[in-house]
Amino acid sequence: MKIALGSDHAGFILKKQLVEHLKATGSTYKDFGVFNEESADYPDQADLVALAVQSGEYNFGILICGTGIGMSIAANKHRGIRAALCSESYSARCAREHNDANILTMGSRVIGPGLAVQIVEYFLNTPFTGGRHSNRLLKIERLETKNIKDQTG
Ligand code: RB5
Repeated sequence: MKIALGSDHAGFILKKQLVEHLKATGSTYKDFGVFNEESADYPDQADLVALAVQSGEYNFGILICGTGIGMSIAANKHRGIRAALCSESYSARCAREHNDANILTMGSRVIGPGLAVQIVEYFLNTPFTGGRHSNRLLKIERLETKNIKDQTG
């Protein structure tokens, strides 16, 4: 399993703590930045991580900003990306079971490192249930195509 990580300046410290956790658990990951606390624009790292997951090279993405909201909005602009903002482990589990979410976003100003690690573990280790949920994902996929058609007339 390969994991792509990214944050803006607000999420930098929490991302660093998660990198330590991933190292300790022997996970394969790539950190797509940022690499310091200088002010940065979250759509830039959201784009890098979303493209990495979209390409199929990475199974999952983890994106952190102050609230997790901006990262989630930006990542979800990418076709085939299902980014879920989670602040507790129940949502992280359902994001995988029901939504087959491929990117987890979290807010460093919302949750602490202990909870973030727990959320990451639920997210990475919960399989998609499939079944009735597959049809719903297909409908989301159709929305992506439909909305492209709407925009181009
Ligand atoms: C940065 O101040 C903050 O706006 C950003 O990290 C994020 O919370 C946006 O959604």
